Amino acid sequence: MRLEQLGSEARKIIKGDSLVVVTDKNVEKLYLDRCMESLRNAGFEVKSYVVPPGEESKSGQTYLELLNFLAEIPLTRSDALVALGGGVVGDLTGFAAATYLRGIKVIQVPTTLLAAVDSSVGGKTAINLPAGKNLAGAFHQPALVCQDARLLDSLPEDVWQDGMAEVIKYGCIADAALFELLQDREAAENRMEGIIQRCVAIKKKFVEEDELDTGVRQLLNFGHTIGHAIEKATDFAVSHGRAVAKGMAMMSDLSAEQGWCSRETAEQITSLLRMYDFDLTVAQPGKILYDICMADKKRKGNYIDIVVPEGIGKCRLQRLTTEELGELLCER
Ligand SMILES: NC(=O)c1ccc[n+]([C@@H]2O[C@H](COP(=O)([O-])OP(=O)(O)OC[C@H]3O[C@@H](n4cnc5c(N)ncnc54)[C@H](O)[C@@H]3O)[C@@H](O)[C@H]2O)c1
Ligand SMILES: [Zn+2]
Repeated sequence: MRLEQLGSEARKIIKGDSLVVVTDKNVEKLYLDRCMESLRNAGFEVKSYVVPPGEESKSGQTYLELLNFLAEIPLTRSDALVALGGGVVGDLTGFAAATYLRGIKVIQVPTTLLAAVDSSVGGKTAINLPAGKNLAGAFHQPALVCQDARLLDSLPEDVWQDGMAEVIKYGCIADAALFELLQDREAAENRMEGIIQRCVAIKKKFVEEDELDTGVRQLLNFGHTIGHAIEKATDFAVSHGRAVAKGMAMMSDLSAEQGWCSRETAEQITSLLRMYDFDLTVAQPGKILYDICMADKKRKGNYIDIVVPEGIGKCRLQRLTTEELGELLCER
């Protein structure tokens, strides 16, 4: 769907007449006018709310300020929010929509590759707390997602690359044909619209089977247990996608060592990541990563489920005791 069609599509599902578009300062300059125009052309009364770019905007303070803005308008139950931006705007707006008046509709308009293939699909919304990322949140499915790949043309290279880590992840866990397609980087970059659709379809399928993240949805975490540990260990100096790429490479190597996958599979995964310029070195000692994994919200008592590749396009959960994980990481 093009941004120009957003208004008419929104009209079909939103009963109220008022919308608030939430965006960040960078995206405001690029797309806010076009977004508001499309919505106004469909007869909506539209206001905007602009937050600073970056993770800091997923704070409790920004969240409450946004709710106050909505309450002062006042937005009613039949109105809706529109998240125009990357994962930060999407998560913040989604959580505001999930909780304002006990829940109003949200429309996601992803403008980063990561938001397009990941955060705008699946209904996880959250803000950060001082104790950690995404600690307050809700499951709240978007009423509509406007996937317009042209909005990604303005992305800086590093933001683009972060999203590519997730795209490669989908190939690894569920789509050998996508993995193959990514081997020709130039061809892949010219076919992003189709690639995004494939990724979204995979995520949707996993989410439909397991909305509350207790089973198959966990496979989406390939590379993420170690990736999150690397992000935390570096105080988020290593960005999410780069950390996940390191995590996928490390899990692939460990899996080959343990005989969970062939050496060839592990090498195919690491070569594809290198082709997209990911630096796969992990500077942190295993003990540091292990200690952070122990504080991970995905740990279940004294065991942890990690995602391991079995072959290209196929992953499974491997249950490890905390001691086993410790040995794996520390003897690396
Ligand atoms: N809800 C979920 O399921 C889920 C999944 C993955 C990640 N996330 C969350 O997503 C967030 C990260 O999202 P992100 O990587 O999109 O980061 P982001 O939203 O911070 O965007 C990255 C940068 O790109 C800029 N930008 C956005 N769109 C642009 C465009 N079209 N052109 C130029 N610049 C643009 C932004 O202003 C920002 O500076 C994290 O908070 C993470 O926790 C959520
Ligand atoms: Zn991720």
